[in-house]
Amino acid sequence: MAKQVATNITWHEGHVERKDRETLLKQQGATIWFTGLSGSGKSTVAFTIEHALVERGHLAYVLDGDNIRHGLNKNLGFSPEDRNENIRRIGQVAKLFADTGVLTFTSFISPYRVDRDQARKIHEEIGLPFIEVFVSAPLEVCEKRDPKGLYQKAREGKIPEFTGISAPYEEPLKPEIVLDVAKLSPQEAAAEVINYLTERKLLPE
Ligand code: ADX
Repeated sequence: MAKQVATNITWHEGHVERKDRETLLKQQGATIWFTGLSGSGKSTVAFTIEHALVERGHLAYVLDGDNIRHGLNKNLGFSPEDRNENIRRIGQVAKLFADTGVLTFTSFISPYRVDRDQARKIHEEIGLPFIEVFVSAPLEVCEKRDPKGLYQKAREGKIPEFTGISAPYEEPLKPEIVLDVAKLSPQEAAAEVINYLTERKLLPE
């Protein structure tokens, strides 16, 4: 848990509510949280959905682990403490995006249950939908794909604390969606998520 450091600060309520922004955008804000091993295809699926939704006239945006680590989170590594801070910040950023009315997709390994649960909590306590998507693929499948060559480096001992090899991954216990990406193509996986969002009335029929 991050400590509150600043003192003498006061919350300033705006004059525009989330529902006003949602009326403007003709959609409802939500966070769709992808979690899974490196190389499972989280980002590929998330970016495929973003593209499909924008083509259908919806404002969607992906917050991607590798991308965010080039900027906002460039000062964080892969220790448990840094991953906790990585996910804490992204939970907060996703909440802000969703509160603007954007369909917000996050694509982070987010290996610790407690960190994901905290991201869920801060959404649900202000009435924002939080949908956890487990991008499920066995380690062997991810390691065989190895799109960035990182598993090989990790096996050679060149990357410490690599998720699945020398650092843990805690599977979600009750995710809203499980994508069996060893069997599904990125398009099929994207379609499953879009169907779910439609059923939840977060997207029109
Ligand atoms: S998280 O664990 O803190 O959620 P995040 O999703 O931001 O991770 O970043 C993971 C990406 O960083 C991986 O897809 C991979 O490209 C890269 N990476 C570099 N080092 C590591 C490592 N030690 N463990 C996992 N991923 C790593």
